[in-house]
Amino acid sequence: MKRWARIEIKIPREKRESLIGFLLIQGIEKWEENEGIRVYSPWNSDLILFLRALQDFLLREISSWEEASWSISFSFVPQRDWGREWRDAFPPRKVGDRLVIKPPWADYQARKGEVILEIEPRSAFGTGEHPSTRLVLSLLERYIKKGDLVIDVGCGSGILSLAALLLGARRAIGVDVDEIAIEESKENARRLSLEEKAEFHRGNLLKDIPPTEAEIILCNIDLPSLKALFPYLPYYLKEGGLLIASGFTEEGYKILEVPEFIEEVRKEKEGDWIGVVWRRKSLQHNP
Ligand SMILES: C[S@@+](CC[C@H](N)C(=O)[O-])C[C@H]1O[C@@H](n2cnc3c(N)ncnc32)[C@H](O)[C@@H]1O
Repeated sequence: MKRWARIEIKIPREKRESLIGFLLIQGIEKWEENEGIRVYSPWNSDLILFLRALQDFLLREISSWEEASWSISFSFVPQRDWGREWRDAFPPRKVGDRLVIKPPWADYQARKGEVILEIEPRSAFGTGEHPSTRLVLSLLERYIKKGDLVIDVGCGSGILSLAALLLGARRAIGVDVDEIAIEESKENARRLSLEEKAEFHRGNLLKDIPPTEAEIILCNIDLPSLKALFPYLPYYLKEGGLLIASGFTEEGYKILEVPEFIEEVRKEKEGDWIGVVWRRKSLQHNP
């Protein structure tokens, strides 16, 4: 019988963001959060590699903590119908007032005014199950205007670009360092018949796409990458345009140095995660 391991990691709440960052780098997109963080892994050689990497991560991290209190527990779990559980883990989900995210296999009868965003959960991040994705989506829904040009930095599954198009954007440009993310974004665009309005490029932040004046830039990414994105904004975001970002907690947000040419318009929270809208200030001075 195939065996599975359940790994439960208990660390101080304010340290969870860096642990989740580590899990994402390890390719783990699903975890359960309770008093700790719980992940499941098949019992094979990858598990040993993962546990070694987790140990290195914790040893590196705790050296900077004032109070090092953490624990890992490890147990076997009986075989379960993971295929079914996987499918059941993605029920149709309403975000904001209009968007409904659903996987291709789920039936959903759209109500008046609802927009169905069909995304197939595969390897790329962006199924709608993570609060940071939902924060950007609900802020996007609130601020997007018909005909906007939208850039999506770290597009993952393409979920934010495709939502922007369904909500009225004229064009969406997604970029991601990960080739698989680009393939899955294109596939999701095809499923929604949006491939003519959506383009997805492999690239690092905005280095690899030509300067374009967007009305909205979306960015659900880790804090250092968001910081690295700021210098690009004058070349890619129109005056008066909006940067809608998530991927950080209140703690990270407090230490984020925001450039003077953008001002905060709105901030929202879901669980530990924060979503923020900044507006690029206008250079015109009214006498
Ligand atoms: C947290 S996921 C967000 C996915 C999706 N946009 C969402 O909101 O659910 C972050 C994505 O950013 C990508 N990424 C990380 N660093 C990047 C960089 N420097 N340039 C472009 N993409 C990057 C990752 O590969 C990953 O797909």
